[in-house]
Amino acid sequence: VTAPLVGVLGGGQLGRMLALAGTPLGIRFRFLDPDPDAPARQCGELVVGRYDDSGLLAAFADGLTVVTYEFENVPAATARLLADRAPVFPPQGALAASQDRVPEKELFRSLGIPVPAFAGVETLEDLRAAGGPGGPVGLPCVLKTRRLGYDGKGQAVVRTIDELAPAFASLSRGVTGDGSTGGLIAERMIPFERELSIVAVRGARGEFAAYPLVENVHAGGILRRTTAPAPNVAPALQRRAEDAARAVMERLNYVGVLAIELFDVGGELLVNEMAPRVHNSGHWTQDGAETSQFENHLRAILGWPLGPTGVRTPTVMVNLIGTWPDPRDVLALPGVRLHLYDKAPRPGRKVGHVNVLGRDLVEAAARASAVEALAGARACGPSPARA
Ligand SMILES: Nc1ncnc2c1ncn2[C@@H]1O[C@H](COP(=O)(O)OP(=O)(O)OP(=O)(O)O)[C@@H](O)[C@H]1O
Ligand SMILES: [Mg+2]
Repeated sequence: VTAPLVGVLGGGQLGRMLALAGTPLGIRFRFLDPDPDAPARQCGELVVGRYDDSGLLAAFADGLTVVTYEFENVPAATARLLADRAPVFPPQGALAASQDRVPEKELFRSLGIPVPAFAGVETLEDLRAAGGPGGPVGLPCVLKTRRLGYDGKGQAVVRTIDELAPAFASLSRGVTGDGSTGGLIAERMIPFERELSIVAVRGARGEFAAYPLVENVHAGGILRRTTAPAPNVAPALQRRAEDAARAVMERLNYVGVLAIELFDVGGELLVNEMAPRVHNSGHWTQDGAETSQFENHLRAILGWPLGPTGVRTPTVMVNLIGTWPDPRDVLALPGVRLHLYDKAPRPGRKVGHVNVLGRDLVEAAARASAVEALAGARACGPSPARA
């Protein structure tokens, strides 16, 4: 038996954690990333270059058992080129569906899964029609770029008619500033009670498993904290989330891990978006679940048996944003598992996370607050210089 070699498009923290999960299973990794300092560089072979360099893609694909990706903005041409040389999972249809917020929402709607009211917006007139009085979206609304948004980038909340024009002007330039974001979408602003997400996995023979719903807290568009499992989830709510995940995965003939972000509005679930990959709100599974999302993604794309998705220990995941505290201070706290990504500190950047375990969620949450206090007060950046 030869060791499988998994090719990963993107060498960020998700790629790094895939390798950290797969290495004990005898899986080898090759990453493709334009950045020579990509976080996955020490966890496998790193090919440095552009995703649209066809010569480089051929070399990257040589000898791969399977190709996967850790970000959803993989160019369609890249995925097609690689698919001629090795199986690509999740399948290309999942990439297409998740790269553009309009077809993404249409996909869910076509499956009978509720989404916030939305409208594609090309012009300011479109936006006035959608958000104005009697429009299908109304106000307040959230205006977003259809493509390339992440961590809340490329979004603006519009509360009044007067704010429509400036919001349109600021977002028309797109996330990258060159307008290459394929238009905008206006979504009804949902007064949700809380944000939930579900991480599910589908195997090569259609086997399906889902982790319990988790509760997510965002600030400034960035995920801060995940509580796993989410408290107060009736079995029917879990079932509805799983049914939505199963339906979309079956439609896409999906293989691998998929995450769906949800708004809980009085027990009704609305889909915000999906990610065809391992997801930040699934990081708790590394320490709190029977099998991590990273391991299950690898098992799925290799055609291996899926692992159980039950909770082993209630867990609160705390993201480290911008910079990180001294590891010694974190590790002195009870119940903590520290995961650093080997990234340079930068405001708003996810540089690590801490999975905080407890006998129950009350204990885990109290311990997580201590970690958050440390992360806020004693952030110390790349070289922990301690007095
Ligand atoms: N229609 C909406 N109504 C209310 N809040 C919203 C809406 N859309 C987005 N938000 C808030 O903004 C956050 C980020 O939005 P969204 O998930 O669309 O962006 P993103 O940039 O793709 O984020 P990420 O990549 O971090 O998941 C959501 O988690 C939610 O808190
Ligand atoms: Mg999101």
